[in-house]
Amino acid sequence: MAGKDCPMRALQFTAYGDPEVLEWAEAPDPHAGPGQIRVAVRAASVNPIDWKIVAGALAGGEPLAGPGYLGYDAAGVVDEVGDQVAGVSVGDEVFGRGMPTQAEYAVLDSWAVKPPSVDWAVAAAVGVAGETAERGLRLLGVTAGDTLFVDGGAGGVGAVTVQMALARGAKVIASAGQANQDYLREIGATPVLYGEGMAARVEAAAGGKVQAVFDVAGQTPIEDLISLTPEPSQVVSIANFTAGQAGARVTGGGEDGHPMQALAQVAELLAQNKLVIKVQTFPFDRAAEAYRISQGGHVRGKLVLVP
Ligand SMILES: NC(=O)c1ccc[n+]([C@@H]2O[C@H](COP(=O)([O-])OP(=O)(O)OC[C@H]3O[C@@H](n4cnc5c(N)ncnc54)[C@H](OP(=O)(O)O)[C@@H]3O)[C@@H](O)[C@H]2O)c1
Repeated sequence: MAGKDCPMRALQFTAYGDPEVLEWAEAPDPHAGPGQIRVAVRAASVNPIDWKIVAGALAGGEPLAGPGYLGYDAAGVVDEVGDQVAGVSVGDEVFGRGMPTQAEYAVLDSWAVKPPSVDWAVAAAVGVAGETAERGLRLLGVTAGDTLFVDGGAGGVGAVTVQMALARGAKVIASAGQANQDYLREIGATPVLYGEGMAARVEAAAGGKVQAVFDVAGQTPIEDLISLTPEPSQVVSIANFTAGQAGARVTGGGEDGHPMQALAQVAELLAQNKLVIKVQTFPFDRAAEAYRISQGGHVRGKLVLVP
């Protein structure tokens, strides 16, 4: 079903650099291809990959060819449904993943219906974070009665992982800096401080080893995390890409991902109030401020852009 054509605005940049290169300006409007939907965006979150892209960190030294567009998740109202898509209609309120999403209109590749009780900003916040959390927990096989340690529990992926694991009946220990210890307690984790001596603090909190470690921050020496588990493969990292050399597992999405199933689980937890995310919102034309905060590395919950 075709949607309307619309001159739209999107967050963009024409040279790599600091977040100040970002512009909220006109861009070609996207359309849903087979298996995709288009939404009128009500909110789109900021993930660390966004500022890494703007900085040119993923460009492999190649110059930018044309404007760069950003964003990997969004929530909005469906206004176009691609071929081979069933179960969703124009006018439905959804959230999900796609690229680029920090724009007035975005094409999503995976989505779930937004529970009516959930804010647009919260729904946008859990696209990437929710899919990543589900993937980590599935790869680690976390089930009821397990103890999970989340290294980096207060940010986007960490806060969703903590709550998703609790909903499965696991016990969760999570790390954060001093300022986020209370936040971790609020979302149900046993907090520990990261840094020197952290492995001993985790063992003390767990009363021994844990069944699984999810390395979200990628900052702790991988040997320290492996020392907490019965075997190295029970450490999964999303941010330390050399962790595999020590026997831990690394996941970047791709074949490990089941995004539609993951987002359906996230929607259910949101509807049941078992997943609560602290969000800080910024208008799209002040995106650089949100990017700066993300770049600082100490986000509590999620940063979200709104029209
Ligand atoms: N591979 C994948 O599929 C995938 C998917 C999504 C994200 N990622 C990557 O995963 C990382 C986390 O993403 P995110 O969205 O959760 O980031 P985020 O929202 O910016 O959160 C980062 C968190 O890291 C914590 N942190 C900072 N230094 C730490 C340390 N030394 N030890 C433990 N925790 C520390 C911070 O806690 P304090 O504020 O308390 O310091 C903060 O809460 C990023 O590098 C991102 O690019 C990978």
